[in-house]
This record gives sequence, C-alpha cells and structure tokens, in this order.
Amino acid sequence: VVDSRLQGLRVLISAGPTYEDLDPVRYIGNRSSGKMGFALAAAAAARGAQVVLVAGPVQLATPDGVERVNVRSAAQMRQAVLSALPADIYIGAAAVSDYTPRVVSDQKLKKTAQTTGMTLELVRTPDILAEVAEQTGALKLVVGFAAETHDVEKYARGKLTAKRLDLVIANRVGMAGSGFESDDNAATAYWADGEREFASTSKQQLAGQLLELIGQRLDA
Ligand code: PMT
Repeated sequence: VVDSRLQGLRVLISAGPTYEDLDPVRYIGNRSSGKMGFALAAAAAARGAQVVLVAGPVQLATPDGVERVNVRSAAQMRQAVLSALPADIYIGAAAVSDYTPRVVSDQKLKKTAQTTGMTLELVRTPDILAEVAEQTGALKLVVGFAAETHDVEKYARGKLTAKRLDLVIANRVGMAGSGFESDDNAATAYWADGEREFASTSKQQLAGQLLELIGQRLDA
C-alpha cells in the first residue's frame, strides 16, 4: 500500500522508554513497551517511506525495511535523533525520561544498617522533540505524542504551541486498553485548526490511520 505522499520521504521515529542509570545495577525507567512507535515505523515503511527508528531499550523485532538505532538513555536518544537528521518527518513516540540522576555512581550504591531512606538528586533532560521542532530546514512535519491521565486536550494543545509542533497525538495513560504496554490504543489528534478522534483499536491499525492523517497534513 505505497502512499505517494509518503513514498521516498525520510521519516525519523523515536520509540520506547529511556533508562537513566543510577549505578551499574539500577535505573529509572517507565512503562513504554515501544509498540506504538514500532507500529508507526512498520506502517511508514509499508507506505514507501525511508524509515529510521531510534529505539529505547525494548524487546521488539525490527519492522521490515526499517533502519534501527538502539539507545538507552535520554542523552543517547537525543544524540541518535540529531545525528539522523535531516528528515522530512519526525514522530516522537518515545517516552523520554524528563529527569536523570545528577551523578551516576560507577559503583553499586550500598545501604548500611543505619540507612532509613535515601534522596536522589535529579536534573532535567533536554527536550528532544522541542529541539527537533526548532530545526526548520528539511522538516515538513513534526509530530509529538502526549501521554496524559487527565485534561487531555488542555495539555495536548499546550504541547502543540509550546513545542511548536504540527500535530500532537494524545493518548490516555493510566487505564487499561490504551497508552503504555497495551496492544491497543485510542487517541485524539490535535493540530492548529482541527482535531480528530481515533477509537480504540490495535496499535498497528491506529498507526495506519495516523499515517493517513499525516499524509493529509503534509498536503494541507
Ligand atoms: O510504547 P508503548 O507501550 O506502545 O506506549 C506508547 C506511548 C504511550 C509511550 C506513546 O504513545 C506516547 O504517548 N509517547 C509519549 C509519552 C510521553 O512521554 O509523553 P510526554 O507528554 O512526556 O512528552 C510529550 C512529547 O515530548 C513526546 O512526543 C515525547 O517523545 C517528547 N519528549 C518528552 C520529553 C523529552 N525530554 N524529550 C522529548 O522529546
């Protein structure tokens, strides 16, 4: 099902979680499985796009015809994404950690008999999506995801303007049947002068529907 609007375009997609190491045995991570981003990569490749997939630590097979770059941390994801530019379309489907430990211990952090608690000092990670969106150049469309538990439209539209995106795909998280880990997802897409609901379906189906919308927004 080659799509003439996407055929030959370079589509850069981030997927999965990032892991922020605390020491050689522990990390801060999140529940992203990578399924949504991998489904988008497969659907874009099937439509004739040249796809680069920057994947956090996930256990998923690389879709046919997709070039995959594996990363672990937010810093590595940023580096891999920026190195893969220029692209025609960027889709940020990864759940990038917003914080990372200020220091990474090169030895295992030990507790003692006296230890009753511990405080971790975290620092903000760079916003990859906002940084990509700032790079004008070849980019025809920048698409972000918003994972929200409440006030979905408010936060999604906030990201659209704050990060200067063309499209935000908002999904509900924190409930069964959508968002993190699930095989299914439901979403609402927001752009400057429009929105569209996508009913719950498999991430594969939803990815195809989202790429159809992306094709339309390219034309618009
Ligand atoms: O991987 P799955 O299990 O299939 O689940 C899919 C998903 C729920 C993870 C995915 O659909 C999704 O919503 N991804 C974005 C999750 C998220 O972290 O949202 P956010 O609201 O924190 O971030 C908003 C956007 O900014 C995202 O496009 C994110 O990739 C990007 N971002 C965030 C922080 C950061 N430091 N850099 C970024 O690029």
